[in-house]
Amino acid sequence: MLAFVLLLLASLGLVIVASTLNACSNCGDFVVPYPLSTNEDCGDKRYKVYCNDESLEFMSATGTYYKILKIDPSANKFVIRPPPILKNSCYSSDLFKGGLLLDVNLPFNISTQNTVMLFNCSDNILRSPLNCSSNSICRQFEEKVQEGYGCMDTLCCHYLKDSAMNSHKIRLRVGGCTAYTCLVGFKPDDPLQTWNYGIELQWFPPN
Ligand SMILES: *[C@@H]1O[C@H](CO)[C@@H](O)[C@H](O)[C@H]1NC(C)=O
Ligand SMILES: *[C@@H]1O[C@H](CO)[C@@H](O)[C@H](O)[C@H]1NC(C)=O
Ligand SMILES: *[C@@H]1O[C@H](CO)[C@@H](O)[C@H](O)[C@H]1NC(C)=O
Repeated sequence: MLAFVLLLLASLGLVIVASTLNACSNCGDFVVPYPLSTNEDCGDKRYKVYCNDESLEFMSATGTYYKILKIDPSANKFVIRPPPILKNSCYSSDLFKGGLLLDVNLPFNISTQNTVMLFNCSDNILRSPLNCSSNSICRQFEEKVQEGYGCMDTLCCHYLKDSAMNSHKIRLRVGGCTAYTCLVGFKPDDPLQTWNYGIELQWFPPN
């Protein structure tokens, strides 16, 4: 009986050690929750993120790094920073990589809480179900946010990236749309000062 109890305690101990070993150590001030993995020895390797100079980053299918701003481990979600729009232009920094593209074989997708604004689009976009009207919120971004000044008076649109949309990309191209930004949890009529810039991604929980 004593031996059994000791065995039980020993294996419990092992389980506890194993689960704490599995979570990665902090990246700067960021707690990195399981299954996210900053290196071979921790987390689950399919959920790779990068700790570059104490900044936690996500890498897209094109090898572009996006800074992680916030993680909600209980919802399996994290928010990345939209790439900057380059000064005196209407080009997002990831334009020549085709925008944000996620590897469809990895357990990440774009959540349904994102409102995307696209800028400097070609006329073809008007045939899509996007809101490209003169009262689209993208007009406010162009006129009132410095980062958007380079996009002023270009054709722009916004849309909710819901389940009807592709959940692995926000596509950009020269001759299509050349810049974008994104808001998390935006509700119509939310004033500009309260906009929450980011792109919310989700991970499929590991089994
Ligand atoms: C476009 O978006 C604006 C701002 O949210 C809204 O007031 C307007 O009704 C929308 N237009 C269409 C056609 O959905
Ligand atoms: C808008 O896009 C076109 C190509 O689609 C490009 O030639 C032009 O420079 C872009 N405008 C700005 C302000 O970046
Ligand atoms: C994205 O991932 C979540 C769970 O991780 C899943 O519930 C959802 O269906 C996925 N969305 C699409 C469009 O595949």
